[in-house]
Amino acid sequence: MSRLAIFASGYGSNFQAIVNAVKNNALPAEVVLLVCDKEGAKVIEKANKENISTFVTSPKSFESKKHYEEAILEALQEQQVDWLILAGYMRLVGETLLRAYEGKIVNIHPSLLPSFPGKDAIGQAFEAKVKITGVTVHFVDEGMDTGPIIDQEAIRIEHHDTYESLQVKIQSIEHSLYPNTIKKLVAGGNHS
Ligand code: GAR
Repeated sequence: MSRLAIFASGYGSNFQAIVNAVKNNALPAEVVLLVCDKEGAKVIEKANKENISTFVTSPKSFESKKHYEEAILEALQEQQVDWLILAGYMRLVGETLLRAYEGKIVNIHPSLLPSFPGKDAIGQAFEAKVKITGVTVHFVDEGMDTGPIIDQEAIRIEHHDTYESLQVKIQSIEHSLYPNTIKKLVAGGNHS
């Protein structure tokens, strides 16, 4: 069974969706670790409630990104983690983790990449007045929301949509798309 570490910085609704999929036997994997770079983030409470180990650490307490990621890597190796699942981890992954987990790091982003990378992709799409946006799951490389696309799902922005209603739609797609995509990845199927 694949062992997943989820990386998150904030609320953790995707963390919870993945954990729920595992609990409902919809995702044959184990969530063994939460890696969080923000003390006090809501996602930590969710992990505690689910009895999932947490590694919470601020990059600021390390002299370099390399040292920060080496500490994370040690925790990942201790838990024999196979896959790194980024779910609202608002930080670029550096060389240390990219090298150690080549081809095994995935991210979810709330837009149809390559449109609207970076922060507040939902707001960016809303402001741009595009009619179609969506969700992307992709492999992680050294860029910001770049890397080969694994799966995408589109939604229409209706004239009556607000930022909030769009966010609800996007998140509801995320919560089913991400566990489904991870399921295919851990099964080792063809993801193109
Ligand atoms: C999600 O919408 C995710 O796609 C986004 O952060 C949100 C986290 O929500 N990620 C990015 O924007 C990555 N660039 P959550 O904490 O409720 O899962």
